[in-house]
Amino acid sequence: MAGKADGPLPPLSGLDCSKLSPEAKRQKAPGDAGAAPGTGWKVSQAEAKEWFEAKDSKEIGEGAYGETRKFLLSCGRWVVIKKFTDPKPHDAREEGKAECAAHLAMWQQSDQDCRRYMSEPAEMEFETAESEGTYTVQSLIQAGGMTLAKLSTLRDTDRTSTRRILPQIHFEDKQKICKAYGAMRACIAKAGVLHLDLHTGNVLCVTNYPMDDAQLSQYLDDGVLKDEKKDAIVIEWRVVDWGVAETFKRKEPEYDDDEICWVPKNENINTKPTDDAKFGVKNEANECKTENIDWISRELYRMLYFERWGPEGKDRDCINAGTRSECVTPSDVYGWVREGFADALGKTVPRELKKATEERAREHLERLRFPDGGGASASK
Ligand SMILES: Nc1ncnc2c1ncn2[C@@H]1O[C@H](COP(=O)(O)OP(=O)(O)O)[C@@H](O)[C@H]1O
Ligand SMILES: [Mg+2]
Repeated sequence: MAGKADGPLPPLSGLDCSKLSPEAKRQKAPGDAGAAPGTGWKVSQAEAKEWFEAKDSKEIGEGAYGETRKFLLSCGRWVVIKKFTDPKPHDAREEGKAECAAHLAMWQQSDQDCRRYMSEPAEMEFETAESEGTYTVQSLIQAGGMTLAKLSTLRDTDRTSTRRILPQIHFEDKQKICKAYGAMRACIAKAGVLHLDLHTGNVLCVTNYPMDDAQLSQYLDDGVLKDEKKDAIVIEWRVVDWGVAETFKRKEPEYDDDEICWVPKNENINTKPTDDAKFGVKNEANECKTENIDWISRELYRMLYFERWGPEGKDRDCINAGTRSECVTPSDVYGWVREGFADALGKTVPRELKKATEERAREHLERLRFPDGGGASASK
């Protein structure tokens, strides 16, 4: 049942390049001896450019900072090459260097469990003139038998109905998905990194979510998720794009804090704890370092809330909810993400945040017209 999402994550790349030429051998597999202090995987600008421009490289993304392609090396290893497209060659070079350094720092400060959430960065050599372009290389995140997808593309519905799938999965699985996202956030914080760009283009899912009509028909009966599929959807998290990431030194020893630290959502106008307060870990100067806007938690709520079916179609309303688990509130989602974060760090959520979250959940339940709106039966 819900335990499936806990299963082992697929290996990072697991390809043996050892039988290749000395040149090709430089593409080490993760975990190879000699990988310290970096990943031990050195790639020159010339190599990166060649792979990027190879006729069988494939475009996988185009964003604000660059153009991204994937390419299969002759030793059987997939790589991702990102070209920095800033019109000023010097700025492009600086952006490439900064992303490479942050990605490497993230990798080096992570243990194997945390590395599974991310790709392996190459240690780039910047040997060419800036005018020749700037590239970075990393491993391709693989999905094994599943799909690598943006969270925002999982809103698929059956053709026969507009009823979405995710609101219909088990409540425990909703919790689990949110906590797992929090656990990934913990890995970033643990490494002393602020990603600072956690949106649905950079936080990806590895999922068995039914993506096409043939698969959908195995999951749905007239738009209704089949009982045996209510705990069958797995969503694991991945994170890419260290382009604007910052690093900091964590407070040592960290163990004197049992609780995660937090700051108000808006530091200037509101110092009260809120259900969606920002959370993080402390730096050496005892300041709480937090990510900025949490687009993912917002998106998670939008995907998980339960819809009521009334005369005018679907409605964000819990009036027909029989039990508390049929009404997911935004504060539930924020609370679960934060719990997942705290659990993964071996810490607890501060009492005042928990209280703020419970109070806010009661308000939400009332507004969503949950029966007995936020009263006794609403308490968890
Ligand atoms: N290592 C990777 N494995 C798989 N897909 C990746 C990887 N890196 C990037 N991508 C895909 O390419 C897109 C663009 O990469 P990203 O690093 O976010 O570039 P940008 O700075 O242009 O936003 C991502 O949204 C993701 O879909
Ligand atoms: Mg991006």
